[in-house]
Formats: sequence, structure tokens, C-alpha cells
Amino acid sequence: MIKPFGSDTLNTLYVDNNAKREALLKDAAVRPSIVLSSAAAGNAVMLACGYFNPLTGYMNIADAKSVAEKMQTTSGLFWPTPVVNMIKDASAIKGAKRIALKDPNVDGNPVIAIQDVEAIEEMSADDLKLITEKVYGTTDMEHPGVAAFNSAGNIVVSGPIQVLSYSYFKEDFPGTFRTAQEIRDMIAKNGWNEVAAFQTRNPMHRAHEALVKMAMKEFNADGAVIHMLLGKLKPGDIPADVRDSCIRKMVELYFEPNTAEVTGYGFDMLYAGPREAVLHALFRQNMGATILIVGRDHAGVGDYYGGFDAQKIFDDVPAGAMEIKIFKGDHTVWCNKCNNIVMMRDCPHGKDDYVMLSGTKVRAKLAAGEDLPKEFARPEVAKILMDYYKNEAAKG
Ligand code: ADX
Repeated sequence: MIKPFGSDTLNTLYVDNNAKREALLKDAAVRPSIVLSSAAAGNAVMLACGYFNPLTGYMNIADAKSVAEKMQTTSGLFWPTPVVNMIKDASAIKGAKRIALKDPNVDGNPVIAIQDVEAIEEMSADDLKLITEKVYGTTDMEHPGVAAFNSAGNIVVSGPIQVLSYSYFKEDFPGTFRTAQEIRDMIAKNGWNEVAAFQTRNPMHRAHEALVKMAMKEFNADGAVIHMLLGKLKPGDIPADVRDSCIRKMVELYFEPNTAEVTGYGFDMLYAGPREAVLHALFRQNMGATILIVGRDHAGVGDYYGGFDAQKIFDDVPAGAMEIKIFKGDHTVWCNKCNNIVMMRDCPHGKDDYVMLSGTKVRAKLAAGEDLPKEFARPEVAKILMDYYKNEAAKG
């Protein structure tokens, strides 16, 4: 099986041992505490699961800057995005060596992790701007990722963590949420060697389904791991439970048996386009995938990134930094002449023969109570989506 990213064995930061976890929870109760930002809680869950292997906790300012500027930490580890715990007010933890981190996304803010504090530093406005610009390619606060990153606070609390809960993900998505180790185990159990990972934050439409099948064919893959984002999205995106039902239906009806697993991970979308694509590749290697599918405007939002910037960035990844391969998908559309979904680069026909429907257009159609065209979604998937939108409309 493919090695984890940056180490020989996978380092998961969740404290599995019940007695040890109980003891740490008791200890946490008497420690100074802070409520995390949703982004920092997501980082804790990713570290807990082994997806962010080999990191052991939150970065300090020097590492966050180095990662933003050079895609590598100060110690030389290749890494594309800051993994930080930023807060607005550090008065509650001043001088503390060990602190309790509380979960902003669960009622009552239970403890999610314990952190051994290495430093509490204030990030200057210039540094915040520089990091934002490098990672997101813009400092426009209309960009949802930029807004989240710039509104968490400018105090950076760095140091290693031990994670005591998977937040709401295990309870809310028991059949779908998986740790990187669980996916490695699943791949081993299936006896798969070549495994394509598919990142998605959408119900899977025809173009998505086709991309997975094309990647599997090109690499002669034994299986695909559909790996959906279960954390926070921007307003108007389709909720995770609805996406989950759509994807399960599509796999059940349109994939060969035992060739695709439906799974998910607990992280908020960054919408960082190219940089997020690199992060996606790195954490799919950690879960044992050998291929990541990157199509058009991967992890993008609005018009902030060029359609294929998230593929081009892999040219800047130093040789040997990652083992996972990238399937670079072209724009995938319905072709009326082929009567099928095609990648533009493989199809001899032209614009006039294509039906191009973006997720945004489809959400608008659904919101307006219109049927989804067959070129866009499988009918069984369309029905789940239309029912959801009808219910929402009925609720007012
Ligand atoms: S993402 O933000 O999580 O990347 P989404 O769920 O829409 O968004 O896309 C999942 C993957 O499918 C991404 O790699 C994306 O680039 C790709 N993709 C989606 N639609 C198309 C399309 N029409 N043509 C090519 N690639 C696409």
C-alpha cells in the first residue's frame, strides 16, 4: 500500500485508549480553555484522523508564513496551507502550558482536544494579508475562505494536540465519516492496489460520475473512494445528508458492485482552489489512495481561479514530495451528438452540441422548482434533490 505522506507510518492524533482519553478529559476540565473557530476544530478532526499526517498540532506564525510563501514548513516539510489555531482573545490562557480546546460546532462546547502551548503570538495585519494573498490568491472578503480565515482572530496558538473527540461527524454521519486509517483498512480489505480518490462537495452529477469512471479506466484502478466533505460550506450549498443520499443512490445503481466506496471527512471547505487541491492530494495519500481526480475549477468559488489552475499547481510540487498521482480531467459535458457525457478534449464535436450545467445553475433550477435535465443528473438522484428542495420550499 502507498506510504502515508511524509512518514512511514500514519500518525493519528485521536486518543484511542479509553482510560487515557477519560484521564485527559478530566485534566481538561481544570485547564484554562478557549472555544475554537470552526476552521481550527476542523483542523483538529483532520489531525485526529491521520489526514494531516505527519503534523502533530497547530503551526506557529513562522510555519504558517513559510507554508504560505514556499509551500513548506520552516523544517522543510512540503505543505500547502496553514494549519493554525487562531483566536480573538488570549486572556483566558495567558501563561498556560496546557489548555483545553472546546468545540464550537457541538451544543455546550464540549472539549475536543488538549493542546500543549508552544507559543501565543499576535499576527500582524501585514502577515495576515500576505498569508491570505498567497493561499487564497485574493484578499477579497467576499471570498468565503478569505472571510473565514480573516475573521477567526489574529492570535496564533501553536503547539501539539491530543484529540479527544471527532466533533459531530461520527454521530451525524456514522455510515460515511471515516478516518484515514479506516480508509486504509478498507482498501486493504478490498484488496485494491490502484485506488482513485474523488473529492466532492456536491451531490454527484453525471459529470462527476463520468470523471470517476474515466480516471479508473485510465489508471486501470481496482476501486474508487468517493470522499465527500462533511464540514461547513457556504450558504446555498446542498447539505451533507442530502448529498450523501444522492451519492449512495448513484453508486448503487450506476457503478459495478464493489468498485466504489462512499466515505467522507470532517473539514470545512477552504475554497482555496489550487492550494486546496494540493492539500486534497496530500491527505488522500494519507488515506491510501494512489490517484486524486482533479477536474475543472477544483475547490474553487466564483471566478477567483482559472479553470485549470488547480491542475497547473502540481507542476510546482517538488519531485518526490508526494507519491499520489493526479488524474487531470478536462471540462466534462453532455454531448448531444455522442448522446453521453464526454471530456471536451476527447470529443470531436463542438460547443453547439454541448450541454454545460454548473452546480450554481442547477441549484437555481432546483430552487425555482424546475426538473433537473437528464443530461445533468441521473433521474433517481434528481428525484432526491427535487424532493429536498420541495420540502425546503414547503417549510418556507
Ligand atoms: S470541489 O470544490 O469539491 O472540488 P465539486 O464537488 O464540484 O467541487 O467537484 C468535484 C471534482 O469534480 C473536482 O475535481 C472538480 O474539478 C470536478 N468537476 C466538477 N464538475 C466538473 C466538470 N463539469 N468538468 C470537469 N471537472 C469537473
